[in-house]
Amino acid sequence: MVKKFNLISTNPPKNLKDSYNRIARKLRISVTDKCNMKCIYCMPSGNIKWIENKEILNFKEIIRIVSILTQLGITKIRLTGGEPLLRPSLENLISDLIKIENIETISMTTNGFLLEENINKLKSAGLNSLNISLDTFREERFRVLNGISNLNKVLRGIQKARELGVKIKINTVIIRNWNDDEIINFVKFARDMDITVRFIEFMPLDGSGIWNYNLVMTKKEIIKIIETNFHNVISLDKNNSYTSDPATIYNFDDKKGKIGFIPSITDPFCSNCDRIRLTSDGRFLTCLFEKEGYDLKKMIRNAKITDQEIREYIVNCYKMKPEGIVKLIRINQLRPTLNLMHTIGG
Ligand code: 5AD
Ligand code: SF4
Repeated sequence: MVKKFNLISTNPPKNLKDSYNRIARKLRISVTDKCNMKCIYCMPSGNIKWIENKEILNFKEIIRIVSILTQLGITKIRLTGGEPLLRPSLENLISDLIKIENIETISMTTNGFLLEENINKLKSAGLNSLNISLDTFREERFRVLNGISNLNKVLRGIQKARELGVKIKINTVIIRNWNDDEIINFVKFARDMDITVRFIEFMPLDGSGIWNYNLVMTKKEIIKIIETNFHNVISLDKNNSYTSDPATIYNFDDKKGKIGFIPSITDPFCSNCDRIRLTSDGRFLTCLFEKEGYDLKKMIRNAKITDQEIREYIVNCYKMKPEGIVKLIRINQLRPTLNLMHTIGG
């Protein structure tokens, strides 16, 4: 739905500021809702209705929206999906995005399955860093949790990206009684590979509606397990004072590997949130928990609407950014399937 705001100011704002005084700096662009995996914490279990191709923003449209957003203080971009590597010629989008004035970094969140064959061209195009999802080291469990075979292919992709010197973080969703027995292996992996593994608390964004609070392995519980097994070798990373990162990062005393936590349920990050989202079908989301968002595609496909009008519209939409998951928790409204993760890209 395109809401109408008809004020075009002569002195346009230089940033996006909401009613809680949060300023947006980062943009997550979902380049496709399609995925080659079927993670139980994400994809709907039945038949999935994919977004039609004609509804998906083309690269030119994405570049136009990003250019407008950079005039409003956006400097960092993350490409997400679905699985972003299913989008053909993604490297062309990356190399065009990096040329936009004020864009500082381009990162990507991927399930890693198509990484080994793509990482070279992504790096050459200008990709700065990668978050790779990994929830298990067991092939049979990989099939159950992630709905696809060949875990080794993902592991090879991680290895190759690391060898090429791309900055990597691993995203791990631990679900009680599904993969909580692998926490120690993830910590060992972080240390062996000397990378960061971040444990994300399971959020009610799964398409199959299995979420309930009992399945959430909390940051506190995971820390306890790690401390018991690694004998107080962890301490808060003093360098991680960058408050707009939702993860708190812990170091080991020998500085090998790091672990992080994104306690989306037990300690949500909403008050420091600096993100906005663009879905593959061109909806602007000011919050992960906003259902419909604002239809930017309709605006940019209307030849009569100018960049300035779109910019004003975005500024006004952002002012209405909701408080976030923190409010849903407070009013006891956390429910399974609040939104569909594969359409918004996390
Ligand atoms: N809860 C927490 N994290 C999730 N992800 C996907 N669905 C959920 C969920 N319901 C994570 C994936 C991926 C990132 C995009 O979000 O593991 O790393
Ligand atoms: Fe695909 Fe990522 Fe969702 Fe898994 S979490 S089904 S890899 S979009």
